[in-house]
Amino acid sequence: MPSPSADIQPRSRLAQRCQYFTESVIREMTRIAQKHGAINLGQGMPDFDAPEVVREAACQAIRDGYNQYAITWGAPALRRAIAAKASLFNRIEADPETQITVCCGATECMMATMMALIDPGDEVVIFQPFYENYGPDALLSGATPRWVPLRWPDWRFDPQELRNAFSQKTRAIILNTPNNPTGKVFRREELEFIADLCVEHDVYALSDEIYEYIRFGDQPHISIATLPGMAERTVTISGLSKTFSITGWRLGYCIAPADVSVGIRKAHDFLTVGAPHPLQMAGAAALELPSSYYQKLQDDYRRRRDLFVPYLQQAGFECEAPEGAYYVMTDITPFATGLDDVTFVRRMIETVGVSAVPGSSFYSPRSEGRQKVRFMFAKKDETLHAAGQRLLGLREALARGASS
Ligand SMILES: Cc1ncc(COP(=O)(O)O)c(C=O)c1O
Repeated sequence: MPSPSADIQPRSRLAQRCQYFTESVIREMTRIAQKHGAINLGQGMPDFDAPEVVREAACQAIRDGYNQYAITWGAPALRRAIAAKASLFNRIEADPETQITVCCGATECMMATMMALIDPGDEVVIFQPFYENYGPDALLSGATPRWVPLRWPDWRFDPQELRNAFSQKTRAIILNTPNNPTGKVFRREELEFIADLCVEHDVYALSDEIYEYIRFGDQPHISIATLPGMAERTVTISGLSKTFSITGWRLGYCIAPADVSVGIRKAHDFLTVGAPHPLQMAGAAALELPSSYYQKLQDDYRRRRDLFVPYLQQAGFECEAPEGAYYVMTDITPFATGLDDVTFVRRMIETVGVSAVPGSSFYSPRSEGRQKVRFMFAKKDETLHAAGQRLLGLREALARGASS
């Protein structure tokens, strides 16, 4: 093989866009947890199964021959079901022909939306702590993130700080309610403040509402698209992963104004062509489930939260019961170990066999999350009890580790 000539500088084997973020720490912790046989309270996937009728609908769809590509932007039956659900639950009226795009999970929805709307150099306002995909999404689409803090312990933002983050370069704001990782459910007045800024600065709201059905208190779920002036500047993103415990099916959708949908559909077409056709058919069946299904979903998650959070508090973590989603953000300062979040989680996996996500994954700069750890509780009661019992021995296990 000819050797490269001496005056050619060796180029990195990766493109620049892939050099500015690391591999997902969440998935890395999952691998370490598997190696140690730990209970994984890191990555957001349930250890219980999807409803039987939904699984059966998928098998039936395969038997019925829905085994080739669906229409790129989604099987008509699923788009119609999403339109009906959006009208009833979110109070969003959307034409399934022109405004709804089914993608491979909310994950692809956000990426396709950003590819459709963002030009390199545009700024995107993102609250932090943030769902860890938003950082790489911004970088991959060429956007510069402007971080605005949600502050511990009630996770409110400072209106002035948010206003200061908006500039002539701002193209979009990413919103996530109920929120991962904080469990915050945004209040109407907070959403109104954000909406006013969007209208004033001609900015899009990209609203990730994947946990819309998982709320524990009296706070209603409000879709920002329903606030004055927002229908034409909001992309509402949601999906079936969390609501029906089918994270592996990869079904998500965007609801957007027709002209924006054109762009999202183009990006989606060339990213993935489409979501799995038989699973889309089963997704349409899932959306037919009666309202009692959603009530039970909420009651079950409330029970899991109320079962698990006291274990965390008793074990020594500082934390509050979240208002929504299925995560608890904790502060590890009371352990006084001097360890950073990543080392703390590794030790937790190695000593008591419980995995979680280091808080730095949710912050930029990462140093701001060095004393935080996020747990998820989408697990069977017995899994949560087992993890809780193990965590009660954590303080001692860490102390033993420190002295050995
Ligand atoms: C806020 C948020 N958005 C999107 C996703 C991914 O959803 P999907 O499985 O539909 O890609 C997650 C998964 O954890 C999430 O927490």
